[in-house]
Amino acid sequence: MLAKIEQLLQEVKGLTAQNPEELEALRIKYLSKKGAINALMADFRNVPAEQKKEVGMKLNELKNLAQERIATLKEAFDNQDNGAAELDLTRTAYPVNLGTRHPLTIVRNEIIDIFSRMGFTIADGPEVEDDWHVFSSMNFAEDHPARDMQDTFFIESHPDIILRTHTSSVQSRVMEVSQPPIRVICPGRVYRNEAISYRAHCFFHQVEGLYIDKNVSFTDLKQVLLQFAQEMFGPETKIRLRPSYFPFTEPSAEMDISCDICGGEGCPFCKYTGWVEILGCGMVDPAVLEANGIDSKVYTGYAFGMGVERITNLKYKVKDLRMFSENDTRFLEEFESAN
Ligand code: PHE
Repeated sequence: MLAKIEQLLQEVKGLTAQNPEELEALRIKYLSKKGAINALMADFRNVPAEQKKEVGMKLNELKNLAQERIATLKEAFDNQDNGAAELDLTRTAYPVNLGTRHPLTIVRNEIIDIFSRMGFTIADGPEVEDDWHVFSSMNFAEDHPARDMQDTFFIESHPDIILRTHTSSVQSRVMEVSQPPIRVICPGRVYRNEAISYRAHCFFHQVEGLYIDKNVSFTDLKQVLLQFAQEMFGPETKIRLRPSYFPFTEPSAEMDISCDICGGEGCPFCKYTGWVEILGCGMVDPAVLEANGIDSKVYTGYAFGMGVERITNLKYKVKDLRMFSENDTRFLEEFESAN
């Protein structure tokens, strides 16, 4: 019996199978109920008592080895089945093309960041607006020519419903539901019925700002705008304010920054003036405060508004405004951002 076990041990040690079917045949041959090992187990009864210990140990060794060997072979076939045996773990993964932020989004976020650090919060409102929030509450009289300053898109069947021409409508919405102190910026898309060219489009983006509290002065406005200009365009940037007109502010001004191409020396970009215009601003007209439910005898405020395209053009020297809405990925991929 020992000799038989020894022979099977040698056989089992060298077991190999070409395919799962062969392996199954081996399992049946050695490990099934009617297999060779079970047959030996049955014979074990007849082994003389003094040999039982030695034979029993050998027999167990054989059984364990056979189970182990067959399990190992089976595992190899299983792994091969799902391809893992051929998997090359050093291969690089499929390339993932990461998108980039749109340049207007990068600049808008930068503007928001700067004003957030100065305590402004973001306010939002609808792009399809009514006349009240865009014009009337902003002190545009019914037949005032200033309404023509902003070529408006009207909804034909509803002359009162328009596409907002500026995000001042959001300022109005903030004022009608809150009392000072109010300190908000209103980023958003606006629409004007203009012929599309390299320097004008029928829609563009703005960030407007509004600050209302007791004793807000023009000096506060100027300081905040200087801070903004220097954070946006560099600490050397100078600003200048020129008198202007807006129905909703009095006094009103337009702000220029020193041309960052020539540093104020004069070049074709700034038309040899050394200055480029970047935004409109002013002290909120008391009539606007009153129209929106704020006591103009107690409170004063300033407002400003800028075009995101304009700031982006200045920062990145994009010459044609239409590039921003054409979705040419060769253009868009030039802008990389961390946020
Ligand atoms: N609403 C003005 C525009 O769209 C910008 C502006 C806002 C000017 C606030 C002054 C104060 O042109």
